[in-house]
Amino acid sequence: MKVAVVGATGMVGEVMLKVLEERNFPFTELLLVASERSVGKEITFKNKTYKVIGLADAVSKKPDVAFFSAGGETSLEWAPKFAEAGTTVIDNSSAWRMDASKKLIVPEINADQLTKEDKIIANPNCSTTQLVMVLAPLHKKYNIKRIVVSTYQSITGTGLKAVKQLENELAGVQGEMAYPYPIHKNAIPHCDVFEENGYTKEEMKLVRETQKILDDRSIAVTATAVRIPTEGGHSEAVNVEFEKDFDITEVRQLLSKTSGVVVQDNTDVNTYPMPIYANGKDDVFVGRIRRDASQPNSLNLWIVSDNLRKGAATNTIQIAEYLIDKNLL
Ligand SMILES: NC(=O)c1ccc[n+]([C@@H]2O[C@H](COP(=O)([O-])OP(=O)(O)OC[C@H]3O[C@@H](n4cnc5c(N)ncnc54)[C@H](OP(=O)(O)O)[C@@H]3O)[C@@H](O)[C@H]2O)c1
Repeated sequence: MKVAVVGATGMVGEVMLKVLEERNFPFTELLLVASERSVGKEITFKNKTYKVIGLADAVSKKPDVAFFSAGGETSLEWAPKFAEAGTTVIDNSSAWRMDASKKLIVPEINADQLTKEDKIIANPNCSTTQLVMVLAPLHKKYNIKRIVVSTYQSITGTGLKAVKQLENELAGVQGEMAYPYPIHKNAIPHCDVFEENGYTKEEMKLVRETQKILDDRSIAVTATAVRIPTEGGHSEAVNVEFEKDFDITEVRQLLSKTSGVVVQDNTDVNTYPMPIYANGKDDVFVGRIRRDASQPNSLNLWIVSDNLRKGAATNTIQIAEYLIDKNLL
């Protein structure tokens, strides 16, 4: 099992290596890949020092699987080249997610769609993954009509440049800006670029990817995505309207039984999910579960998860584990 990590020097890449180690992912050879800027740089993993290589070099080594987190343009150009060499690519960028010929996978929900022919598999956007992890079991039971989601997203979702911006602001140092405004003591209602319809691309990812993963284009979704100066995870305030009515105790039971979802919901003792506690964990945490008193068949939820873990690295590696388990690599 020859494994390539493309974007190994980035935020997701670093967590990818951590998760590979923690889960004892079965590889015999590891290729750490980044841009030409990083070629030759050394990274220590499991007490062994690796030299970062470039993309062309990595393709020529024909890895069995490549975990991509190096931006959309790199994926668009290089994922097909790896696929042609026989590599299965699992891609974290937005390049392939809405391509009708590519599968968009959250293993707990739809890994059973995967076949040996899938050579480029898309990993959803971090804010979508945590949303659908909680909503998929509820959709099955009560049929979702409409979702209103507002996000409070961690700066780690923008990569190393954004973490550096906050560090500079805290130290009073002028430096490169990842955002158009200061992020310290701020909330910026602008994640990714604006589209023609007035929504941001991040907001439209929540709409389109949710419909694709839940395999139901009739679900109405509207989103507002906001960047806040937290690390550790994205938070989401979610209002869901169902076709059928629900029993709130049953909703809690259903979510408690869902693999990868942890219910943290006891307002008597101030228990609810928060990014500082989700940090470094693979689960998706849900709390503040309550009936929407303003409208029938509607529920309010607060969902938190580490965007670098289940939102990126963990989900990617779980897809690969599924492929290995089902002999699809
Ligand atoms: N952060 C998140 O929560 C998250 C979640 C889901 C998906 N993603 C996606 O994952 C990707 C990486 O995000 P990140 O947060 O890890 O960003 P990051 O910290 O900025 O890291 C970017 C990585 O991509 C590499 N790279 C950039 N341009 C390249 C090129 N032309 N050829 C080869 N490698 C190149 C960089 O290598 P150098 O060090 O050599 O520049 C670095 O390893 C993005 O597509 C992002 O949308 C991120």
